[in-house]
Formats: sequence, C-alpha cells, structure tokens
Amino acid sequence: MSTLEHNNKTAPESLSFRHLLSAEDISREDLEMILDRAAQYHIDAKNGAPVGQTCAGRILATLFFEASTRTRFSFESAMLRLGGQVISLEQGLSSSVKKGESLADTGRIVSAYADLIAMRHPEAGSVAELAMNARIPVINAGDGINEHPTQALADLYTIRHDKGRLNALTVGIAGDLKYGRTVRSLVRLLSLYPDIRFVFISHPSLRMDAPPADAMITDNIADVIGDLDVLYVTRVQKERFADAAEYETVKNAFTLTPESLARTKKDMILMHPLPRVNEIDPAVDALPQARYFEQAARAVFVRMALLALMQAPAPVTD
Ligand code: CP
Repeated sequence: MSTLEHNNKTAPESLSFRHLLSAEDISREDLEMILDRAAQYHIDAKNGAPVGQTCAGRILATLFFEASTRTRFSFESAMLRLGGQVISLEQGLSSSVKKGESLADTGRIVSAYADLIAMRHPEAGSVAELAMNARIPVINAGDGINEHPTQALADLYTIRHDKGRLNALTVGIAGDLKYGRTVRSLVRLLSLYPDIRFVFISHPSLRMDAPPADAMITDNIADVIGDLDVLYVTRVQKERFADAAEYETVKNAFTLTPESLARTKKDMILMHPLPRVNEIDPAVDALPQARYFEQAARAVFVRMALLALMQAPAPVTD
C-alpha cells in the first residue's frame, strides 16, 4: 500500500468544485488539499514508494485543440502513474468539431467514453462550453487568453516548496500580462493569501486588464528586481496577436541574463511556465535562482493530485 493510501484510509477528502474551469473555482481549502496531496506524491516518488492505483479503471480524455508539451504530457503521465488510462485528441480538429459539431455536444459524447476530461482550446470560454453538457468532470488546460488554472496550481506548488510559504511575498510577474492566461490564474490563486505584493513588469501595451488595486506597475525590470522574492516570467504570446507588426515591436522587451540577475535577493526564485522564447538566456539555467525546469517537472505531482481528488463515481450509461 502506498503512503497515501495508508494515510487516507480514514479521511476521505473532497474538493468544493466539480469542474475546474477557473482559478476562481478553487478555495484555499481546495488548494491546500491539492498541494498537500501533490507533496505526498512528490515525497513518495523521491523515496521510490509505490504510487498506488487510485485511478485504476478510470479513463482520462485529453482534448487539445491547441499545441502543448507540458500540460498534455503531464496530465497523461499523471493518469498513467495512478493506474488509469488515457484517450487523447492531440490535434482537436481531427475530431468531429471540424464537421461542425458543437463543443457542448462533444462534451456530452466524450462523457460516455471517459471519466475525466482535460481540454485546451484557443478560445476563451470554450472549456466552459464543453463542460455545459458533460456528465464527467472537466478541467480547463488553457482556454485562449482566459485562464490556465492547473498551471497556477503547479506554480503555487513550486513557490510553497521553494519559499516555504504562500503569504508575505513580493511577486514580480514579467512579460505578456495582456494575453498570458497563466498570469491571470496565478494572480487569482495567490490572492487567496495575505501580504502578497504584486509587481507587474511589462511593455506598456502588454499590461494586465484590471490588475489588483495595490499592485505596482512598471516597464523597467532593473528598477524592481532587487525587491522580489519570486520573479515569474512569461513569453510574449505571439499566437494571440492579430497584428504581426505589433508583436515584432514588443517581442524583445527584455532578456534575463546572469548579469541582469546579479542584483536579486539571494533566495529569490525565478519561474516561467514555459515554453520560453528569448526572455531568459539559457546561461541563466545553471544559476541557483532558476526553478523553471523543476516547476515543470513537479507539475506531474500536482496533476496527479488533481486527478485523484476530482474523479467522480463511474458514470451510469443510459
Ligand atoms: N506551461 C504550459 O502550458 O506549457 P505547454 O503549452 O507546453 O502545455
């Protein structure tokens, strides 16, 4: 029996949400339940302890209408590690959506073939549309410029793991704050905790809509880098620009180098949801501040926790 199965024998846990469409669905209790479970999977993996078969007999459908490496593979890896199985639509337009089938009908149909859905789509609100008629839990794996709540869960896991807390932090978020869905979800989740001071760093045309009222806003990373406990960098989201010329003017707002990181606090951590393009020079990868590859690797434990906690009773077939 795995450590987790042993620990949970008398304490069943349940999340407050059925579908995970937005970071706003996640309460602080949900968040801590997910991160604690992820930490246990992480520890078990380090110790070589058996994972258990929490999702045995369950099927995850990954419906991806947009490119992904980390999110799709880590969801699929998570399900397989938990003893479940995966059916996958790697390129969503190979589905009958291409023939005009609605996402709402697709959700109803896939509900008969799987027990959980993780979906990515280029349009904001598309995952909620699919969830409308789904009879199984649906997870938003990124909907256009809107949200990417499971990335934010993975981000908070690394902040808690590496900083030892989720409160009383100065968090700099740099890059594309207008189109970056990970940023929106991250700010929502971190706002569940007290004494978080946000510093938003971007080209003026890439600022966040409706940032928290007390956030600091700047376009000069050098001015603020020494104050930060966490620096979270995002790429400029080329695929969201209607005007290619506009992308060209903002794509190289900054590139972090070992020199530009020389003035950070000793224990500042540098994060990125990845993929990176040119915002972090590869020479930074060897610095102690660089945590983005660990952040991506640990996401599998977070997605394992989510799948284990979100699985619903097996659906009844009509
Ligand atoms: N962070 C993230 O969403 O990466 P992918 O686009 O590779 O899934």
